[in-house]
Amino acid sequence: MRRYAFDTIKRPLEEKQYDVVVVGAGLAGLYTAWLLDDRFSCALLVKGPLYSCNSSLAQGGIAAVMHPEDNTGQHIEDTLKAGCGLADEEGVRMMVEQGPGEISNLVSLGVVFDKEAGGSYYTTREGGHTRKRVLHCGGDATGDHLIQILADRVKEKKNVDILEDCFLADIVTGNADEVCGVIVFQQGYKAIVTSRVVIATGGIGQVYLHTTNQEGIAGDGIAAAIRTGARCSDMEFVQFHPTAFYNTQSGQSGFLVSEAVRGEGGILRNHRGEAFMEAHHPMKDLAPRDITARAIFLEMQASGENHVFLDITSRSADFLAARFPTIYKHCKAHGIDMATEKIPVAPVQHYFMGGIRTNLNGQSNIEGLYACGEAAGTSVHGANRLASNSLLECLVFSRQCATHINGRSPGKIAMPSIADVGNRVVPADIDDMRRQIKELMQQHGGIVRNEQGMTLALSAVKDIAAKMQHMALQMPRHTEVYNMALIAIEILQAALRRKRSVGAHYREDSKDYRGDSKDYREDSKDYREDSKNEP
Ligand code: SIN
Repeated sequence: MRRYAFDTIKRPLEEKQYDVVVVGAGLAGLYTAWLLDDRFSCALLVKGPLYSCNSSLAQGGIAAVMHPEDNTGQHIEDTLKAGCGLADEEGVRMMVEQGPGEISNLVSLGVVFDKEAGGSYYTTREGGHTRKRVLHCGGDATGDHLIQILADRVKEKKNVDILEDCFLADIVTGNADEVCGVIVFQQGYKAIVTSRVVIATGGIGQVYLHTTNQEGIAGDGIAAAIRTGARCSDMEFVQFHPTAFYNTQSGQSGFLVSEAVRGEGGILRNHRGEAFMEAHHPMKDLAPRDITARAIFLEMQASGENHVFLDITSRSADFLAARFPTIYKHCKAHGIDMATEKIPVAPVQHYFMGGIRTNLNGQSNIEGLYACGEAAGTSVHGANRLASNSLLECLVFSRQCATHINGRSPGKIAMPSIADVGNRVVPADIDDMRRQIKELMQQHGGIVRNEQGMTLALSAVKDIAAKMQHMALQMPRHTEVYNMALIAIEILQAALRRKRSVGAHYREDSKDYRGDSKDYREDSKDYREDSKNEP
């Protein structure tokens, strides 16, 4: 693996200096920037335009205990159960206990959560939840509303410079494995000198052919961290959302049809009209997400069809248009009246449980390198994330990161010179390589895996990475493909290492599917042994 992805030939670089650099302006990045002390200068790097992040696509909402019928113990239990016993209990407890406080904090910033006629929060059940505890905004526009409010608040902060269309190429470290800065591409390469970098770049969606993620979500922050020597964990656990809209004219789309639709009575049906979830789990259509996605996958495999149906025709058009305005409009625009017709759906990549290994303060094993949100490997989701725990995770662990940074003075730092690697060849076939990685991961690193397929995919992706080793990665789109290759390699290696199926990692060549969770914890212990970091 090359230590630096960016093309080191064109020097010297224009240099800027900040106390803290936050990479990514989804909920995790924005909230971190918002919570940083005003005494710290902060650069907030946005890969595209502000407001265009992955969090803005979140429909379902935020899981938090807000009603007397619910309690934190139950939310913790549901999270641990959905994670198949592999979630870190201390982290889960912290996340769940801080949930209600964070909801109040958001309200004080101007976020408006949907309420019942009587004034209490309107909460819904989603997969794996035993209680109604998912809060939402604008029906199914939770993420969009949150990001509008938070981005507006962060723009008011005098100590934060928002750098849009600014791509993270690399994190620079010194001799003692400490952060010294970042290299970014913003109309050319530039260096930012800093001793604190917070990676909040979200997940890895573009590594797969079909994903609900935004186009820019390619694991850039995680890959840049890997190049510094940062440890990762839980890389084999990739979550597929059971229900993305399947366009019967043009094929699979990445448009999410929220689990909340099933929370409001939606039923999954096969092409014969049968409600098939009953055969898979006692919670039926509200089973944990890994089980539901796999059940659909198996149903599609058995029938030879490329989608199933989500049936919410039990609800009126008025109810659906008010409760799910985004989904209702999308279906209508594609010729489906969800009040009278079943919605064609299929599972697609949605979320990444793995990421940069961090402790509960968001610190990685590299001094000064933090991560929060989907890019972080806190293990709070175990082998399968409980629905709507991701926005909650963003809030709680962004605060943990910001609090830790606020408690320490940034060190004086200088950017070391990065050796010029000499002549590299001009990139060729980049688009082809991107397509190959996505196809290989979709086919062999997806919902159902086996040793043979993963070994084949790993060898092919390694060949691509090896070719890129000697290319001058002059543009973000070049580096992005190299990042995708690194992430794919990590996922496949971790998935090959874990011999038994658990949660989102389902191996058809493993006999022990969802067996004794104590055994799974033992597997995990071995694996996480490599990933231990006590900064
Ligand atoms: C959804 O609305 O179904 C997505 C929520 C999530 O990913 O937790």
